[in-house]
Amino acid sequence: MYNIPMQDSGRTTLLIFGATGDLMGKKIVPSLWHLFEKGRLPKEFEVIGLSRRSLSEENFRALVKELMQKYVGEVAPDSAARFLALFSFQRVTFDQSDDFESLAHELDSRDRSRGPGIRLLYMAVPPEAFPQIFGHSAFGEIVTKETRAIIEKPFGIDLSSARELEEVLARRFTEEQLYRADHYLAKPVLRTIPSFRFDDGSLENIWNAEHIGSITIRTWEPLGLENRGAFYDPLGTLRDVGQNHLLEMLALIAMEKPRNSGNVEEVRAKRAEVLGALRIPNEDAIRKHTFRAQYEGYRAIEGVKPDSETETYYRLTAYLDNERWRGVPIIMEAGKRLPRWKTEIRVNFKEPKYSAAFIMRPEEKILFSKSGEEKKFPLADAEDTKQYVAEYARIIMDAAKGDQTLFVSEDEIENAWRFIDPIENAWKKNVIPLAFYSPDTDEAVALAEKKWSDERLPS
Ligand code: BG6
Repeated sequence: MYNIPMQDSGRTTLLIFGATGDLMGKKIVPSLWHLFEKGRLPKEFEVIGLSRRSLSEENFRALVKELMQKYVGEVAPDSAARFLALFSFQRVTFDQSDDFESLAHELDSRDRSRGPGIRLLYMAVPPEAFPQIFGHSAFGEIVTKETRAIIEKPFGIDLSSARELEEVLARRFTEEQLYRADHYLAKPVLRTIPSFRFDDGSLENIWNAEHIGSITIRTWEPLGLENRGAFYDPLGTLRDVGQNHLLEMLALIAMEKPRNSGNVEEVRAKRAEVLGALRIPNEDAIRKHTFRAQYEGYRAIEGVKPDSETETYYRLTAYLDNERWRGVPIIMEAGKRLPRWKTEIRVNFKEPKYSAAFIMRPEEKILFSKSGEEKKFPLADAEDTKQYVAEYARIIMDAAKGDQTLFVSEDEIENAWRFIDPIENAWKKNVIPLAFYSPDTDEAVALAEKKWSDERLPS
């Protein structure tokens, strides 16, 4: 029920704003290839790359081919040629109205010769560029009723900028046309949580504060910034993954059961409701319940300020003020340049006869055990485990199909920022000093553990 099979969405054109940028190689090309290889793209599918660079169609395909070699590896030449034939290019400079007019014209003439179809706009450009792009009157012609926009995080850097962004988006799109991507929602383990929790009614009796002592949600990455210094430094780990991925993990693990699991709006409202129940921490709670650290050497990275106070690791304890979870500490932790991959949710029961773990890295699995009897739970189609590939394949196809379930609503974003903003503000005031850790070691985690034990907090 939660795992809707792929269907052909009909004639679909994917328009990529920012087609010569970073996301093209990391996310878009490998996931499109994945869909192509598995024969899962719509039968009539084409991609139009858009960028200010002056490229011929041939140049653009050569660029996609290079990205294939770098991010996918060797593939059979005839399949590669068929794949590359899906791509065309149109030069669009964001301040040139003429460019938008020619794009609108091109789309229109394709529609006239091939029949109208779905237009998927992938906004792989910084949100600061949106007002300019959306401002052109010809952009209005590009957005038909069958147009959907995939929007990448970060959705603002705080509540007020998130609201401004929403206002800009609302100038051109209705809520039904907006597909705000959080690739964690598309991860097989996380997609399986609702059926794990709700399909067998018996679990709900123990899924509450009476039986559960704490919940731990973490993502440890051995990776560093990978040329993203200028992007990352103004954000830090709490905004980069904490405001979105970790809180969405919490939303799935803690949400109430939707009456109708097929009702997209209801599912999203249930996720938003949990985030709305997060207790907003005051400065005292932030002093006691949060920890932030930066790895040594971070300040020397290109694009990072030499005196940067940005965290590359954090840990915090949160609480949900609702009937089901009152008093249960939720420990959230994320960091870069940690010694190993570890992405997981652990539900720690008071009675030792139960245990539940939702593990995304190093391998994907859900484990539940009762009285020593371990039960592996089958995952919703786990497939390509390369970073972003399976998730973005899902994101693109769900947007093409018009299924918003795995996309974040405005309410989820706002509730998340309401919780994050006071922490960011207190950190900025140095309510707790930034600590430092040696990269690729356990030091950050050990420092956090020590604070948690000094403060007598469950960890
Ligand atoms: C992205 C962050 O959203 O998620 C990255 O911007 C991070 O900094 C990545 O590395 C983690 O995703 P995953 O799927 O590898 O856990």
